[in-house]
Amino acid sequence: MNLIENLKWRYAAKAYTDIKVAEEKVDQILEAINLSASSCGLQSYRVFVVSNPEIQKKLGADSYNRQIESCSHLLVFAAFNDMTSTYIDDYMAMTEKQRGLDAGTLSGFRNGLHAYFGAIDAEQKAIWASKQAYIALGTALIAAAELKVDATPIEGFNASTIDEVLGLKEKGLHSTVILALGYRDSDKDYMAATKKVRLPIDEMITKIY
Ligand SMILES: Cc1cc2nc3c(=O)[nH]c(=O)nc-3n(C[C@H](O)[C@H](O)[C@H](O)COP(=O)(O)O)c2cc1C
Repeated sequence: MNLIENLKWRYAAKAYTDIKVAEEKVDQILEAINLSASSCGLQSYRVFVVSNPEIQKKLGADSYNRQIESCSHLLVFAAFNDMTSTYIDDYMAMTEKQRGLDAGTLSGFRNGLHAYFGAIDAEQKAIWASKQAYIALGTALIAAAELKVDATPIEGFNASTIDEVLGLKEKGLHSTVILALGYRDSDKDYMAATKKVRLPIDEMITKIY
């Protein structure tokens, strides 16, 4: 199966060449992100794509992950700080429009969302939004592998630096996780030839039929 072969091929690259990933491939990865599942379908995060050496240098200034500045494209997954009633209403209206439904058809669902998000606090909302961003990260990793684009998921970054450089706070967002894209530099990357380590599958998976 090609998918499994491609997932065996991928690894979290530590060093990148200066070869740029074609925009068409980046766009496919971004479309895969947009097609990711999300809780209640609300897509409670935004993705910033940075391919600019000066900005990447600023974003990675206080991180040990050199991939931030050496990669071709850096994806910043920025989760919502809040889930507002206005956003829910606009999203429901968009859903009705895209599905050709009369306005108000989804009012039951909309009211349920208002009740749910009205009952949880700001921290819970931010954590919930971050979880959705991680699902998109997983989708992006698979899409990149399918396109034979190397990728590194990165949590080792200074969130306040990234939030400030990209002005995320003003946008009601906070950086949760980032993803470097590019092409592995096998000569400089000690991990490139290192065997992938995984648990025996039976230890991880329990089938209950
Ligand atoms: C959420 C997340 C955060 C990670 N953060 C980093 C990181 O900051 N730097 C890094 O080099 N690798 C990072 N990794 C890569 C993991 O170390 C790597 O996925 C793991 O060791 C399994 O190896 P593989 O992905 O190469 O198969 C991260 C992975 C995930 C999923």
